[in-house]
Parts: sequence; structure tokens; C-alpha cells
Amino acid sequence: MNVLLTSRTGYIGYHTGVLLQSGHRVVLYDYQSNSSDEVLEKLAQITGQQTPFIKGDVRDTELLKSMLAAYHIDVVVRFAGLKAVGESVEKPVDYYANNVQGAICLLPAMKSARGQALVFSSSATVYGEPRYLRLDESHPTGATNPYGRSKLHIEEMLSDVATPDPAWRMACLCYFNPVGVHESGLVGENPSGVPNNLMPHIAQVAAGQRAERSVFCDDYPTADGTGVKDYIHVMDLTEGYVAALAFLSQTTGHAINLGAGKGYSVRDMIRAFERASGRQLPYKFFARRAGDVAACYSDSQKASKALNWRAPRALGNMYTSTWRFQQSHRLSITS
Ligand code: NAD
Ligand code: UD1
Repeated sequence: MNVLLTSRTGYIGYHTGVLLQSGHRVVLYDYQSNSSDEVLEKLAQITGQQTPFIKGDVRDTELLKSMLAAYHIDVVVRFAGLKAVGESVEKPVDYYANNVQGAICLLPAMKSARGQALVFSSSATVYGEPRYLRLDESHPTGATNPYGRSKLHIEEMLSDVATPDPAWRMACLCYFNPVGVHESGLVGENPSGVPNNLMPHIAQVAAGQRAERSVFCDDYPTADGTGVKDYIHVMDLTEGYVAALAFLSQTTGHAINLGAGKGYSVRDMIRAFERASGRQLPYKFFARRAGDVAACYSDSQKASKALNWRAPRALGNMYTSTWRFQQSHRLSITS
């Protein structure tokens, strides 16, 4: 298939690009914040291919129309968007303007180019405060932060668009917390500025590049008081994307959870990283982060049945691959 991947060198986008290129023709599309050329060169090293890249915004309907047609795109895999829970509370309009507006502009371009197959990157945050765990796809939705609500609006929009028009084929992959890096160690996660999420921040503290880890609260109703999340190896996640492309040809309109199905607390994560790095990691407790939930982990039985997918990589692999990448690249950081 000809696949338009709307991320150039974003964290999940380039890991997915690596896998997709072995069976599909991939075209990258990105407006390029949070991306670097070096990563793109390494992608070419891993795949042995130069991947076509178009610089553009997912909100540019006209540009999308012309390039969907020019490359005969069969499927769009949408990663492009803003993704940080805390930032979304501070800048809600940015999140609606990018994430929701992106869908509003992308869908007509796809329809006009008659390439009506879409894999959308949704998030566990659409379930909001869990009423029960593990979270399955029947769990009521109701996000606790603007980021999650932007994803939820898009999911609902996709359903409204696909329901009356059988030409659409869509899957919403609703995933939990991807961590770890590609086994080559050539590409990994190196966000610009202070990392919003836990794993790259822990890795930078272990490397001595940041003084300490701030842990958002130790008074959640969890076993050790810190937030519990479902960490999934990014390569397991990308295998879910590959499986979803095959699934799209058979069905439409499904939300599917991709998670490892086990919750780990922030303290668990710090301890495990201490073991992987052989270093002690200082941390301090702060107030709860707005928009966070105490615990969130998945029931991924639907993915297992519908996509024949599972997440076999162990937590240890997530740490060791991240630590190896952090050390071997002596990643430069920006404050
Ligand atoms: P990332 O920030 O590393 O990459 C996102 C990419 O999208 C960047 O390259 C950026 O330049 C591009 N982009 C953003 N807005 C754009 C626009 N308007 N037009 C064109 N390009 C644009 O993010 P990631 O971690 O790879 O996440 C990818 C997707 O997966 C996001 O939609 C995110 O919400 C979703 N997701 C991420 C996680 C996670 O923990 N990383 C978990 C669940 C869902
Ligand atoms: C992440 C993703 C989000 C995705 C969601 C799915 C990012 C920035 N966010 O959000 O796109 O939809 O998973 O569940 O990739 N924590 C600290 N200190 C920190 C940072 C985090 O204690 O400095 C805690 C949080 O309170 C949380 C856990 O670590 O309990 C994980 O946080 P984080 O890595 O930011 O991921 P999510 O917020 O779960």
C-alpha cells in the first residue's frame, strides 16, 4: 500500500516508519517541530531507503489534496498533533487548533483524493478517570484534560463521518504510554526542552544531564502513592500499526486499545531505571499535575483478537534500550 505518515521524525512516527517501509511505500508529511534531520538520516540507514518527505501542515487541505493524489495514497496514518497532558491544560486552544482542526482539514482532502482509509493515533486519556481497570474499549469516555478531549472530539468526528459513508475505512488506535527505542539504537526519543513525559526525563537525570526528577505527587490512591501507567515498548506499538493496516481492509470505525496491560508506578519506573543504569536517581515530590489520573492501564483483548497483536517486549527491554540510546548518543539537551 501507499501510506502517508503524518510525522517525519516524531517519536512514534519514525519507529512506525521503520517497520512500515518493509511492506509498504511510505511518504512522510510533517510541519517539523520536534524533529531533526539527523534522525531522518539514521532512518535511511536502518531501512536502506530514502523516504519521500513533504513539508506541510495537516491543516493545509489544498496541499494534502494534491500530494495524496500525486503519490496515489491508499492509507493515511495520522500521528501529527500535540500530545502533552500538562501543556494542554496551560494552552488548551493550541490543542484544539492543531489536533481537532487537523482532522477537520485532513478528512475533506482524503475524500476528494478518494483515499478514504485512516489510522488515527488516539490515546488512553479519552477514558478519563477510570471507573474500572483494566480499561477496555467499552469503558465510558470522558477526558480529564484538553489534550484528551481533543482526541475524543476527533474520535467522535471520525465516527460521524464514517457511519453514513461506507467508503471510509478507519481505525482509532488508543494507546497507553510508549517508551523504549528501536533495537538498532540508532533512533530514539530526544525531545527538545525539558521533557514533558517521564521516561526521557528519568534518562536525562540518570545521564547526569538534569539534577533530579520531579514526581507529581505521592498521595494518589495507589500502592505507593505515585501515578500508575501502562508502559508499552514503542516497537510493540508500531507492530500494532502494521497490523491495523491489514485490518483496515476488512472493517471500519473501530477504537482499539494498544497497551501492555500492566500498571507500573512512577516509583517502580525510577527503581527499574536505577537498576538498568546502575545509578541512583534523585527525585522530589511535587503537587499533582493538572489533568493526570491516578492509575490507567489497558485491557487489550480486542487488539489481540482483531489484530492478532500482543505486546511481548518486557519492561526491562524498555529501560535498557532507552539507557543504551541515551549513553551512546550523549544526547544534547536544551533547558
Ligand atoms: P511527537 O511530538 O514526537 O511527534 C509528532 C509529530 O507531528 C512531530 O514530528 C510534529 O512536527 C508533527 N506535527 C505536529 N503537528 C503537526 C501539524 N499540524 N502538521 C504537520 N505535522 C505536525 O509525538 P509522538 O510521541 O510521536 O506521538 C504521535 C501521536 O501519537 C500524537 O498524536 C500523540 O497524541 C499520540 N500519542 C502519543 C503517546 C505518547 O506517549 N507519545 C501516547 C498516546 C498517543
Ligand atoms: C502520555 C503521553 C500522551 C498519551 C498518554 C496515554 C506524552 C508527553 N504524553 O501521557 O500523549 O496520550 O501517555 O496514556 O508523551 N510524571 C511525573 N513526573 C514527570 C512526568 C510524569 O511524576 O515529570 C508521572 C505522571 O504523573 C504520570 C506518569 O509519570 O503518572 C507518566 O506521565 P507521562 O510520561 O507524562 O505520560 P502521560 O501523562 O501518561
